[in-house]
Amino acid sequence: MSKKEWIDIAVDALDKAYVPYSKFPVGACLVTKDGKTYQGINIENASFGLTNCAERTAFFKAVSEGEREFSHLVVAGHTPEPISPCGACRQVMAEFCDPAMPVTLVGDNGTVKEMTVEGLLPYIFTDKDL
Ligand code: THU
Repeated sequence: MSKKEWIDIAVDALDKAYVPYSKFPVGACLVTKDGKTYQGINIENASFGLTNCAERTAFFKAVSEGEREFSHLVVAGHTPEPISPCGACRQVMAEFCDPAMPVTLVGDNGTVKEMTVEGLLPYIFTDKDL
């Protein structure tokens, strides 16, 4: 699959997001090293703090299926500029991904920003710090 197809998977997820409170859909496509894709959406709750972001939904789906090796993440939002992942999701990326893993951030009208896990979260706290 191409990066364009991964972006399409993340953008398609926007329509599935469960966002009755914020009306701010986010979609994700997490790609494993062997090329499988896991789609994620944000899932909100009337108890707002229980909300799960799209990125973490994708990671938790994949990790709970036994996946541990990832090669790419795409995150999409209906935002004028490419969406910026929250801090909690950056820490989850750091748990499961190489610091150099590419992360593609997508906004409306085809805006794209290419980052890496380490670029999003410098001086990362990992198992090496324990
Ligand atoms: N959200 C995500 O899904 N991912 C992020 O990285 C940023 C925030 C969601 C959480 C909530 O449902 C909505 O966006 C507004 O904060």
